[in-house]
Amino acid sequence: MAKIKTVFYCQECGYQSPKWLGKCPDCGVWNSLVEERVEPTLGKNQESRWLAQGELDREIWAPKPISQILPVSEMRAKTGSSEFDRVLGGGIVAGSVVLIGGDPGIGKSTLLLQSLDQIGAGRGKVLYVSGEESPAQVKLRADRLRISSDHLYILAETAFEEIIHHAQAVQPVAIVIDSIQTMYTRQISSAPGSVTQIREVASQLMFYAKRANVAVLIVGHVTKEGSIAGPRVLEHIVDTVLYFEGDKGHPYRILRAIKNRFGSTNELGVFEMKGAGLADVDNPSGLFLAERPRDAAGSVVVAAQEGTRPILIELQALVSASYLGTARRMALGVDSNRVSLLLAVLEKRAGLHLAGQDVFINVVSGIQVEEPAIDLGIAAAVASSFRERPVDPATVIFGEVGLAGEIRGVQQPTLRIREAEKLGFKRCILPKRNQELLREEGEIGNTLEVIGVSHLAEALELI
Ligand code: TYD
Ligand code: MG
Repeated sequence: MAKIKTVFYCQECGYQSPKWLGKCPDCGVWNSLVEERVEPTLGKNQESRWLAQGELDREIWAPKPISQILPVSEMRAKTGSSEFDRVLGGGIVAGSVVLIGGDPGIGKSTLLLQSLDQIGAGRGKVLYVSGEESPAQVKLRADRLRISSDHLYILAETAFEEIIHHAQAVQPVAIVIDSIQTMYTRQISSAPGSVTQIREVASQLMFYAKRANVAVLIVGHVTKEGSIAGPRVLEHIVDTVLYFEGDKGHPYRILRAIKNRFGSTNELGVFEMKGAGLADVDNPSGLFLAERPRDAAGSVVVAAQEGTRPILIELQALVSASYLGTARRMALGVDSNRVSLLLAVLEKRAGLHLAGQDVFINVVSGIQVEEPAIDLGIAAAVASSFRERPVDPATVIFGEVGLAGEIRGVQQPTLRIREAEKLGFKRCILPKRNQELLREEGEIGNTLEVIGVSHLAEALELI
């Protein structure tokens, strides 16, 4: 009898190893390797077995002149939520596969049930496949969301072959698979939720989506224990990867694109979980600034840019004398290397003696900001806390800080200023270069005083 071969897979990132390891060398997670059977690679016959069953449209896959190929914009369907559409790049593309990852209970099923109903409206049937809930349970949720339509079909199934069988009968324009961890294909014998099953089902779904020109939305739970594989093992298979984030203690949820073959990856969608489902938040700046303390040292409002949208965010810094041998530096929501660099620049170019001081930085609202335009805001927050002098609450700050302490121009100053004006800010401190460009364009704010700075010391003086 042939010996069964096994491989150890990291449930976090899909790394393979012939022997067990305590820590995954690829993603660095501890205790995430699980033994799985090696499956023989699929033969050609197996691959085409389910494809041959139905009449998949061969016509659309015949070669054709490039001039006759439909542009992506014409293949997009709106999801009924402007926030979700924005993150997708303007709606969901027919034939694309979108993975939505997130912690259990964050609202993935809610978002997808709501949007699937809208995707189907006026376009055709849509199919919601649940491997976790019975049709009655899905119905219960739908009642809460006030959804009841004839084009939304519900199927409780976990076998991939059955799903495709039903999909070929229903002929939907979009399918939701909730969740990938509960699905399995009969072609391989590993348990549902294993790396091999998840990958195989996802690539078959990808295959189906492209052949039948159907949009497929896959739910992937992010798991803490590592007993079932997480959505990261699928990231390279699907077209678009979105993560749903948020604290369960707060009603706000952020949808972020990690990968998108049909749009930009730095878009952000903000939602609020209400009694009747997820609602779009059109004005996230107002939301993020709602609980800002007045006249507290170390709090600064920066104008950041997330994709096509400017967002005003509160940054907080706390600087206090360190009683330990080495000063502690901690940053939440911003890159800690950037913070170290800025602290060094503050020390050397602005004369702040930060050695021996613990420095903590936090981006309020729990979002992650990566652009350098918030540099000046971080520096201002640190200086404000260090000197115990509050920053004027009606001032917005943005600008990149160079190693020589110079303030460099950033992209889209006009959008940032407009957003600040909209929220009633009175003063904006920005790079001199941006101010000059704005002046040339005649785009200077009317109700807002714009002050250009070229050096860090000059900026801190003003603040
Ligand atoms: P759910 O979509 O089931 O999460 P996931 O699929 O990511 O596991 O969301 C579950 C949570 O959302 C649950 O705690 C109840 C809450 N919720 C609302 O607050 N309002 C609603 O209208 C719905 C449907 C759910
Ligand atoms: Mg769910």
